[in-house]
Amino acid sequence: MNEKTWMAVDAYLEKELLGTNDVLARTLVANREAGLPAIDVSPLQGAMLEVFVRMCGARRILEIGTLGGYSTICMARALPPGGRLISLEYEKRHADVARKNIERAGLDDKVEIKVGAAATSLEALAGAGEGAFDLIFIDADKPNNAVYLDWAMRLSQPGTAIICDNVVRDGEIADPDPADPNTRGAQDAIKFFGGRANLRATALQTVGSKGYDGFAIAVVTA
Ligand code: SAH
Ligand code: DHB
Ligand code: MG
Repeated sequence: MNEKTWMAVDAYLEKELLGTNDVLARTLVANREAGLPAIDVSPLQGAMLEVFVRMCGARRILEIGTLGGYSTICMARALPPGGRLISLEYEKRHADVARKNIERAGLDDKVEIKVGAAATSLEALAGAGEGAFDLIFIDADKPNNAVYLDWAMRLSQPGTAIICDNVVRDGEIADPDPADPNTRGAQDAIKFFGGRANLRATALQTVGSKGYDGFAIAVVTA
């Protein structure tokens, strides 16, 4: 068993389960042409997010870390009529690419991108009485995971799903004293999920076209 097998299985599952999706394929092309880093969720991971949105019957979604809007589109296309997704992105250049992709996907009536440091935008959202959100996807600068999780709890209600990307990091998550601040951020997320009486959480290790990584997945219980 090796990386070649994981890639072949990813390709097989992608072909059998997802077929082709022109809007999502064009989004990835646009993101690479714009020079954005290739750190979008994979197609199967995007489909997982879509399935989560539908499982929750989510009407209001919050995303932290837009990049070119690939994960945004995966989730927003699963919203019912009148549903809304707010996505927070620090880099205006990324948000501009994302807005074009979202418009091409016909989702600009459902999606709003707020440009700026997510911690600032979250404070503004809470101040404006936005929330509760039904699903919150955290996928931005990992050292701030705990900050984002604090806000996520304040913008939640019982039943809200909170999903955090990149928590396995090639297995570094199990290192008792990791040097990488991103891995420390991933550990902060796991500790947060494990330490709250009003959360039930799990984590899912993933292999495939994005290498070896994983998602932490929690639901607010009270
Ligand atoms: N969710 C996207 C990938 C996000 S990559 C997808 O799967 O398609 C992480 C993004 O977080 C990058 O675009 C980066 O610019 C953004 N980011 C980094 N620091 C941030 C901050 N402090 N506030 C908001 N966004 C930030
Ligand atoms: C990185 C960030 C991500 O959100 C991701 O999914 C993969 C990699 C990174 O910063 O390297
Ligand atoms: Mg990520």
